[in-house]
Amino acid sequence: MKLTVNGKMLSAEPAPGQCLRTFLRDHGWFGVKKGCDQGDCGACTVWLDGVPFHSCLVPAFRAEGHDVTTIEGLARDGKLHPIQQAFLDAQAFQCGYCAAGMIMTSATFDQDARADLPRLLKGNLCRCTGYHSIDDALHGVVNVEQDVAGKACGASLRSPYAEAIVTGQAHYTLDVPPMDGMLHLKVLRSPHPHARIKSIKRDAALAVPGVVAVFTWEDVPRKLYSTATHEDHLVDPDDTYILDNIVRFVGQRVAAVVAETEGAAEEACRKLEVDYELLPTVFDAEAAMEPSTPILHDKKSIAYRDNIYVDIHGELGSVEQGFAAADAIHEMTYSTSRAQHVHLETHGSLSWRSEDGRLHIRTSSQAPFIAKQKICYLFGLFDRQVHVFTERVGGGFGGKQEMLSEDLCALATLKTGRPVMWEFTREEQFIGATTRHPMTTHVKLGAKKDGTLTALQVRVVSNTGAYGNHGGETLAAALGSPIAAYRCPNKKADGYAVYTNTVPGGGFRGYGATQTTFAIECAMDDLARLLGIDPFEIRRINKVRATDRIESIWKEVSDVMFGSYGIDQCLDLVEKSLKSGRGLPKPEGDAWLEGTGVALAMLESGPPTEHRSGAEMRLLADGSYHLAVGSTEMGNGSATSHRQIAASVLNTRASNIALINGNTDATPYDTGTFASTGTVVAGQAVEKAARALRDKLLEYASRNSGCAASECSLQDDAIICANRKIPLTELYAEGAKAGDRFDVIRKAYLSPRSVGFNVHGVRLAVHRVTGEIMVLQSVHAADIGRLINPMQCRGQIDGAIAMGFGWTLYENMVFNENGAVVNPALRDYRIPAFADVPRSEIYFADTYDTVGPLGAKAQGECAINPVAPAIANAVANATGVRFPDLPLTPDRIFDKLRS
Ligand code: FES
Ligand code: FES
Repeated sequence: MKLTVNGKMLSAEPAPGQCLRTFLRDHGWFGVKKGCDQGDCGACTVWLDGVPFHSCLVPAFRAEGHDVTTIEGLARDGKLHPIQQAFLDAQAFQCGYCAAGMIMTSATFDQDARADLPRLLKGNLCRCTGYHSIDDALHGVVNVEQDVAGKACGASLRSPYAEAIVTGQAHYTLDVPPMDGMLHLKVLRSPHPHARIKSIKRDAALAVPGVVAVFTWEDVPRKLYSTATHEDHLVDPDDTYILDNIVRFVGQRVAAVVAETEGAAEEACRKLEVDYELLPTVFDAEAAMEPSTPILHDKKSIAYRDNIYVDIHGELGSVEQGFAAADAIHEMTYSTSRAQHVHLETHGSLSWRSEDGRLHIRTSSQAPFIAKQKICYLFGLFDRQVHVFTERVGGGFGGKQEMLSEDLCALATLKTGRPVMWEFTREEQFIGATTRHPMTTHVKLGAKKDGTLTALQVRVVSNTGAYGNHGGETLAAALGSPIAAYRCPNKKADGYAVYTNTVPGGGFRGYGATQTTFAIECAMDDLARLLGIDPFEIRRINKVRATDRIESIWKEVSDVMFGSYGIDQCLDLVEKSLKSGRGLPKPEGDAWLEGTGVALAMLESGPPTEHRSGAEMRLLADGSYHLAVGSTEMGNGSATSHRQIAASVLNTRASNIALINGNTDATPYDTGTFASTGTVVAGQAVEKAARALRDKLLEYASRNSGCAASECSLQDDAIICANRKIPLTELYAEGAKAGDRFDVIRKAYLSPRSVGFNVHGVRLAVHRVTGEIMVLQSVHAADIGRLINPMQCRGQIDGAIAMGFGWTLYENMVFNENGAVVNPALRDYRIPAFADVPRSEIYFADTYDTVGPLGAKAQGECAINPVAPAIANAVANATGVRFPDLPLTPDRIFDKLRS
């Protein structure tokens, strides 16, 4: 068939049944993304004769004779389309994966349409931004500031990838032309929640034309490992095989097929005949702790007790005495749901061997260095034989702190010698990736009449699913900062991470603390109500003080300290704003009940596990700089921050620094980009490297000019020595002649760790008949130290708030009686769309951290933590009824208000 794509004639035949999205990508138009392939996300939006369509829903043959425009064809004569420019000016993206589709849809709006964005953008989802920067772009707001030498830190500078993102030139993990001989991998997943595989017949699958190999548990190294990635692998249980003969949840890998086409691999998966012996199941975490329930893991190497993978206990003081001394006691059980990350770019990897025999893996990972270590371990390879790297990563939120696709691709490449690509479907994200651990938290608080806490006790049961990746660490985090945020002489906690026959939990923004912050902050409000004390006041009375030791339930010395302290400012900012009368008025009518709610959260800047990062800096011949950092950029903005930190130290422009990251061959080691370490640890390595390079340059200039070092200073493109200006190009050339190189490498190690604070406030209305919740005002204050890039900090917080709204109000993975997820699609598992996210007022405490780089602290993680309890507290305030279980869906509210 013939069609025009971006003004060029294309003559090609689509495969039978092929959709336009994959057809366009087959012809190199990688700006056409996949977020779902089901018409729900809009990442694949293109124009057909000027009208936007979700190309995954359009059969390719329907494009015959038509004019197709993709993001790559939107700019004309080298000039960006006004909407591309607007997205650039407002930086209306973070990971940027949704941007192409968002721009293609928005570029068709006229001025009138912009008044109706909630409706017109309902088919385009973004998981990162919270939509406010997109709204800014479509209303002509410019968020980006000028890049001025010496003023990088504190400026809202654009991402180094901005232009590539808005033009569709940014290449994500699988945006590469097919390699010679490339195979596609597909996985057969278990329909049973617990079963032993007695046999797998592969003849019919192998007979499918194009099928090259089938791999089962008999073909993989029989080595246990954890899919979780941490510096110290001992913090996660080695309870997983690449492929196993026991399946423990619906969706677990059973077999992998590689074939010449995805279609052939899929068909072969359907033809595999698996004989299962069904085993008894348990889905509920409390039930799984009973001695009589089936034991899921019986490996000798790990101590399992009644499916409890790990239990944590601790007490400071005596809660018994604390409750005896209390004038009032509140206790209740609160629970949270299982949620999915829904990063728009699904998991995926591409592996191949180079001529020298090395194994290369291009992957969508938050931790390529740890993924490499695991691959070396699993396949018995030396470090030098493996190369793992990331390109653009389309979101992660903790979901990619996991090795979920690299291992099977590596296996298939090592077995066949051919390149292998594997991309998760959206359904696989729900049934075969990881999730937020559902936790049930019983909280008991005792206090004096004046509100002073005398005892704080929690019991947490975390459903870690069929495997323990992150189960122990998220439980430790759940029992850490949410408890340490309050001073109380008597604290006790008991926590259990429990195996069940459900899809595994994993790391997810907030990392366990999100769940217990919900419980403790709701309980704190319930206690305040019992005592007749204002919710702000009870928090002021009991919050941890700057002079306090930061402690939860452990007696051991910790490396957590106050590098800065801004909780008071955060509480004041939110309270003042809620009292200002801003926001929407309560809807008219007696059926609407109005209420306000507040919650606070504290979180360590970085994980308690070891964390290391390195940065390498070089002066280049043209006077610019090269910066190599091992951390991954996935939309968290660390690459932008790193350039700004380096530019600040070197007194230059951020654009004068070329950056490469996340590549085990080309960058220094980094544990991974998670737990807010991108800025805090990798940023420290960058600061150290930039300082070392600056000192080296100044010392060289001083030595060669004869000026005292104190008379030399570094400017944008030169060194000033007394009255003499030495261009950096000249300095480089002189150094090269003399055999001197201006390069340095520095490493950072995370210790001590500072803490950040976030306070969220909400005013809302609840409809007493329908159970609908309407947010009237949303206010957030954050103490994240110095803002390296204010626009980016606001964006991270906007995104975290939006994610918090989704989790609070509707996001919930629903399971049937067989343990299967019944809503594994974006139309059924709803994430916030443009219309769903109210614009939040965001404020920052004025603090400067003494631990983080240039005064900065963690920014992207903790902001989600106070959102759910603030909303739940506002609902309780409005209705007089506590809803202790998330999500707060209208049916639950209706049922309880009616009863
Ligand atoms: S990929 Fe087409 S709508 Fe999601
Ligand atoms: S920027 Fe929209 S999905 Fe990441």
